[in-house]
Parts: sequence; C-alpha cells; structure tokens
Amino acid sequence: LDVLRRELVEVRGIPLFWSIAEQWSQVESFEARPDDLLIATYPKSGTTWVSEIVDLIYNNGDAEKSRRDVIYMRVPFMELAVPGRTSGVEKLNNMPSPRLVKTHLPVQLLPSSFWKNNCKMIYVARNAKDVVVSYYYFYQMAKLHPEPGTWEEFLDKFMTGKVSFGSWYDHVKDWWEKRKDYRILYLFYEDMKEDPKREIKKLLKFLEKDLPDEVVNKILHHSSFKVMKQNPKTNYTTVTQEEMDHSVSPFMRKGISGDWKNHFTVAQYKTFEEHYEEKMKDTALKFRSEI
Ligand code: PPS
Repeated sequence: LDVLRRELVEVRGIPLFWSIAEQWSQVESFEARPDDLLIATYPKSGTTWVSEIVDLIYNNGDAEKSRRDVIYMRVPFMELAVPGRTSGVEKLNNMPSPRLVKTHLPVQLLPSSFWKNNCKMIYVARNAKDVVVSYYYFYQMAKLHPEPGTWEEFLDKFMTGKVSFGSWYDHVKDWWEKRKDYRILYLFYEDMKEDPKREIKKLLKFLEKDLPDEVVNKILHHSSFKVMKQNPKTNYTTVTQEEMDHSVSPFMRKGISGDWKNHFTVAQYKTFEEHYEEKMKDTALKFRSEI
C-alpha cells in the first residue's frame, strides 16, 4: 500500500491525490445512473453527516439497516483511488441502484454523465474558516495528504487553493451557480447545526419522501455528532492506521461551528477576511460571517 507517497498532482489545474490523478480516465468515464443521488462537498464540510442522514432516510430511519456496512461502502467516494484497494468507481459499478455517491470534485471535473442524466445532487457548504481548521487536522491524520506544514503555512495554502481538491472559494461558488440549471439542493453545515430537524425535512422534500415525525426524530438521534462519533460504521476507525491515524486527531473531531476562533490569530483573521471579500465579491452566495 503506497500511502506513504504523500503527493498532490494536478488534474486540469486542480491538485488531487497522486493516485486519483493516475486513474483519472476511470473517473472521467464514470457512468452515472438517472436514480443516483450525488452528495457533493468541498472536503470537511459535512459529507459524512449528510451521507448518514440520507442513508437513514433511504432506510426509513432503520438504524440497524444503516449499520449494515461502513459509510464509505454505503456511500462510496467516487474518485478515490488507493493502490491495491478497490477504487470508488469499481465499488459503484458493482452497486445496485439506487446508489448514493460521494464526491469532492469541483463542478468542472464532475463526470459529464451526472449532468446528462440530470441526477439529483445535494451540496453541503461550510464556512471557510471552520473548513480550513478541520482540514488542517485532517491533513495530519489522513496520510494520503502531504504534510500540511505549520498552521500558518497551511492557511496560506488553503487561501491560494494549493490543497487537495483546490480552491474552496471556486468550489462553493461554482456549485452555487450550477443549482440554477440542475436539481441541486444546496445546504449549509451551519444551518444543520442550528436546526438539524429543519434541514432533514428539506432533504425529505427534495427526495420526495414522507416520513412520520417519530421516524424523523430517530434519524435526528442517529445522525447526531455524539452517536456518529461512537458508531464504528460512521467514525472511520475501521480504516487502517496507515491511512488514518486517529491518535493524531479523530475523524469525528469536534463537530461544531466556530472552532476557527481557537486557531486564527487576530492578524490571520484580518488577512483572511480581506482576501475573502475579494474572492467572494462576485457571488450572491453568503455565509454567516460571525459564527
Ligand atoms: S470528509 O473527509 O471531507 O468527507 O469530511 P466531512 O465528513 O465532510 O467533514 C468532517 C467534519 O464534519 C464533522 N462531523 C459532524 N459535525 C456535526 N454533526 C455530525 N453528525 C458530524 N459528523 C461529522 C466532523 O467532526 C468534521 O468536522 P471537525 O470540525 O473537524 O470536527
């Protein structure tokens, strides 16, 4: 297992794990099916959380059914390729419909079959400052990533898009634009934290599913941070230690909004906000700034 080669390689200008870049043609020619549901996110934005919710919805809130397998088998990470392991594309090709598909790809790299089939898509966005903090810990614990360097250095890489999956700014903006022409439900991590029940109901409506209130409450319980952190089927402790070292930082780390306040210095905050204004001035997409 060549996870020790911690390197990013660009695919059409987007830095990706070298092993993804190497198998890119497999991803590009991926055949989406009309009843696929795509869960698209920039890394560390609530992918696992919304994946668990949707799988619970698909199973009518039956937590035992959702515990049939680990989250990365129930909702395969499409573009992921690790040498010696079944790739995301291979997992999905062998999966019966209806499939749940995870991706971190920016819109321009998404296989065209998703657009052609007009698949439903859920996009989850999280505020940039919490994403970069979460990503910094993840870079250290998930060994496919290069060494992040110091916090200061990593923050700079994030701001210039020199991290895995590229620029956060372009990612959230471009997916926001796409929702005008495709069936995309655009959610925010902060909204999910504020009122998860309201957001689950949005998901139900989007998926054209009606579930009784008691079932919604069950889904709410099983997708809570506390329960998911304890659940080996969602907390990624089933991954080998050479891929993820939970002693460095657990995958289910804090699960809150506003942890950036414990990491940004006043100077870093100022620089970040100025740069942010500039990067986000051409979009109507708004995040809650002070969380
Ligand atoms: S990944 O690797 O990109 O797929 O990661 P992703 O799942 O998108 O993001 C991981 C962060 O989401 C937090 N998380 C949750 N927060 C609240 N509630 C629930 N149920 C939940 N599940 C996961 C997880 O803790 C990571 O955020 P941080 O800030 O690092 O804790």
